[in-house]
Amino acid sequence: MKLISKIFLLVFYISLHGSCANDPTETQQPIQKQELPPRITVPRDEALFRQNGCESCHGKYGSGDTTENADRKFPNGIPDLRNKKEYKYGSSLSAISKTIRNGIPNTQMRPYQHLKEEEIKTIAKYVLELQKIR
Ligand code: HEC
Repeated sequence: MKLISKIFLLVFYISLHGSCANDPTETQQPIQKQELPPRITVPRDEALFRQNGCESCHGKYGSGDTTENADRKFPNGIPDLRNKKEYKYGSSLSAISKTIRNGIPNTQMRPYQHLKEEEIKTIAKYVLELQKIR
C-alpha cells in the first residue's frame, strides 16, 4: 500500500472512531422544547405603588408596619393608610392625589410631580382600595 493511502486510512479510522465515542449528537437527548413558567403579573396599580417606593415606607398593604417606621425614621410616624381617621390631609381620591403630587412639606413624604397625572390617580385609587382592607 502506498504511503498516501495508509495516511488516508489512518485519518479515516481516527475520524470514524472519534465520532462513535464523542459525537454529542449520538449520546445526547434531542433538545426538547421547554415550557416557560407561567408569568406572574402584578396589577398595574399595585406595581406603581411598589415601584415608586410607597410600599417601602407605607408597607405592602398601607399599614405602615415597615422597618423604616420601626426604626423611628419618621418623627410623626407613618399613617395607617387603611384607616381613614388617620389621614391628616384628606382620604378622598382628590385629596390623596394632591398629597402624592405635592408631597407633605418637611416630611419624608416627598412630592411625586414627575409622575403623569394618570399615574398619580391610579396610585390614589389603589390607596382607596387599601382603605377597604380594614
Ligand atoms: C420615604 C418614605 C415615604 C415614601 C416613599 C412615601 N411616603 Fe407617603 N408618607 C410618608 C410619611 C412619613 C407620611 C406622614 C407625613 C406626616 O408626618 O404627616 C406620609 C403620608 C402620606 C399620605 C398622607 C396621609 C395623611 O395623613 O393624610 C399619603 C396619602 C401617602 N403618604 C401616600 C403615599 C404614596 C401613594 C406614596 C408613593 C407614591 C408614598 N406615600 C410614598 C412617607 C413616605
